[in-house]
Formats: sequence, structure tokens, C-alpha cells
Amino acid sequence: GKVCLAYSGGLDTSVILAWLLEQGYEVIAFMADIGQEEDFEAAREKALKIGASKYVLVDVKKQFVEDVLYPAVQTNAIYENVYLLGTSLARPVIAQAQIQVAEQEGCFAVSHGCTGKGNDQVRFELSFYALKPDVVVITPWRDPAFFERFAGRKDLLDYAAQKDIPVFQTKAKPWSTDENLAHISFEAGILEDPDTTPPKDMWKLTIDPTDAPDVPEDITVFFEQGKPSKLVYTENGEKVEVTNPVDLFLAANKIARRNGVGRIDIVENRFIGIKSRGCYETPGLTILRSTHIDLEGLTLDREVRAIRDSFVTPTYSKVLYNGLYFTPEGEYIRSTIQPSQNTVNGQVRARLYKGSLIILGRSSETEKLYDATESSMDELTGFQPQDASGFIAVQAIRIKKYGESKREKNEP
Ligand code: ARG
Ligand code: SIN
Repeated sequence: GKVCLAYSGGLDTSVILAWLLEQGYEVIAFMADIGQEEDFEAAREKALKIGASKYVLVDVKKQFVEDVLYPAVQTNAIYENVYLLGTSLARPVIAQAQIQVAEQEGCFAVSHGCTGKGNDQVRFELSFYALKPDVVVITPWRDPAFFERFAGRKDLLDYAAQKDIPVFQTKAKPWSTDENLAHISFEAGILEDPDTTPPKDMWKLTIDPTDAPDVPEDITVFFEQGKPSKLVYTENGEKVEVTNPVDLFLAANKIARRNGVGRIDIVENRFIGIKSRGCYETPGLTILRSTHIDLEGLTLDREVRAIRDSFVTPTYSKVLYNGLYFTPEGEYIRSTIQPSQNTVNGQVRARLYKGSLIILGRSSETEKLYDATESSMDELTGFQPQDASGFIAVQAIRIKKYGESKREKNEP
């Protein structure tokens, strides 16, 4: 039968491809262009040389930005207060494209190269089963026939030599990475000691903040219903405006990158229960999320914001992290995003400088929740000061009761 393998062009999935052929399967090598820096042509040649019957590349960048990254901005998605979910966000889009290819090509099974200890296996497989419940999933890194044979990198290299699989002569980096339009992750290897500071040359998508320009860079981000609609910045002295979602995201990445914005270092809790240290670069998303949060202060109703912050943001972030995008709860929580964002229209000016993002100001032509006269300390208009006395008196009824009972019991 035919198997659709999520192929990366690297050593692991190249060995998996050869091994699947050895097991008697026909293999379709699938790759998603989700904005990672990759030589897709070299990957195609390599897959076909190893023996894949077909190589299928699907460009999912537009879908990634519009369907997943923008809703992540709208919800200010974040995991354990730090991680902007870069890898988690990409998985549903990749899994969906892989299932589409598997169906088009008449594959009975799909396969991936994720390890047995991580989140990605869970994310991929739960997505596969939601999108094609009868699919068979072949997981070499959880199959003793595979992992007992390829216990270390040396076994993989020996097998590659034996099968005439070209191994790019790049020195193996002492960590593992995963890259897409939103981010790159660095995990494992020397990073497994959580007290090891990453070497300066590990970082890839952002300049070291100490090496960033001494001149700050000012930008303006426009939002319509909480989605970035325009980014205005300066390039070689010229004002540039971008509106197309993929271009806007790429421009945000470029600006954050040259100013060293978007580095993350965290020890996180994986869904399967183990702690893991990860370093991430999330340049553009950091800009868009931070400016979006700021605009919500001006344009979002207090109670809508409270419900969204206390419930939607943590729940949706967890759904994403745990790979539960295509589930009833995923569908339900996503349906609450748009209604929370109807009033989030306006623009935020921000300054990027050596790794930091500073808000310079915000405004909205359409939303009138903020009333400068009403908020002013120098104006008596709006409501009567006496009304505030009543407000406090009523609020105090319950609190006085509490104080009285504490006194009676002589409690501090
Ligand atoms: N720890 C992060 C997450 O679970 C990054 C995972 C990176 N995945 C990878 N295959 N290298 O989202
Ligand atoms: C992997 O195990 O394939 C990478 C790490 C993860 O999925 O969390």
C-alpha cells in the first residue's frame, strides 16, 4: 500500500523513507512550505533518489497566516506566560495538507518522524484522526523494529551510507530545530541543561539585541476587528505600507529581526507530562501580539476583555499546545474569537530598540469607548462626583459586614 510521509529532507526522515520502502510500502514524500528556510528542490531530488514514487510540496503559508496566526494574534495566544506557540500553531495546517495529499494519492497510511516523547506526535496524530478517522499512522520512532535498529545518530548515518542516501555535510548542530513563518524552535542537545545559556550563534531569526542598531525604529500597526490590516514602516528612508497578510507577516519578521525582538527561553510542561527546555524566536508575531494587546486597552469593552483574558486566551492556548485544534472544544473556542474582536479597530505606534518593543501611542477613528473628557482628572463633566459616593457606599455594604465579623472574632 501507499504511505504519505511527512518528509523534511533531513537525516531522520530520509532514513524513515528508505526504511518504509524496505518494509514494502510505496512512499509519497509530502512537504509543506510553511515559511521555513528550506531548499525544496534539493529535498525533492533527495526524496526521489531514495525511492519515493512522488514528491508533493504544498504551499500553506497563506492559510497559516490567515487561518491560524491572525486568530492567535486576536486571542493574544500564549502558553505558560511565555511561549508564543510557534510550533503548535503550524501543526494543524501541516496535518491538514498531509491528509489532503494522502487522500489525493490514495494512501491508506500516513507517517511522520516525531519522537515518542514530544508534543508533535500528539498534535499530528490527533489531527490525522479528526480529519481522516480511518487513517493508519506509521510511527517509526515508536516502533521497536525501527528504534532498536537505529539507536543513535551513528546507526542512521551508517544506514544512509549503505542506502546511498546523500547526507548534507553540514556539521550536526548540538540541538534540534523546527522552523516556520512564525518562529524557530531550539531544543534538546546542549540545551537540555536548563542552566546552559544558548551560544550566541544558535539564534537564527533575530540579531543579538546588543548588536542591533543604536537608532530606534518606529512602526505603525493597523488592526481591523483585531486582525492586522496594515503595517507601516521605513526602509532606506522611504515609507513602506503592507496589507497582504503573508507580506505583512514577512515585513513584521524582518523589522523584529533587525532589532533583536522576539527571543524566548523557557522550561515548559509538555502535554505528555515531562518538562522540557526550549528556546524560540518569534519575531513578527511578537510585534503583532504586543500591539494588538495595546489596542484592546483602547477599544475593547472591560467585561468582554475579562472573559476573553480569563477564559478564551488560556483555553485556546492550551488547545493549540496540546494538539486539540480539530476537536469539538477547538471548534467551539474558535467560534468565540471573532465576536470578541468587533471593536478592535485602530492603530498602534511602536518603537523597536535593541530587543524591546515600546508603545508610543494608539488611536481609533471608529471606536468611542475611551472618552478623554470623561477620563480627565481636570474635568467635572461626565458623571457627578456624588455618584461615586453612592457607588462606594453600595460596594461597601458587604465589605463592612466582613470587617465587622473579623473584629468580633478578633481575627487580624
Ligand atoms: N516545545 C515546543 C512545542 O512543543 C517546540 C517543539 C519543536 N518540535 C520539533 N519537532 N522540533 O511546541
Ligand atoms: C519531537 O519529539 O519530535 C520534538 C519535540 C516535541 O514534539 O515536543
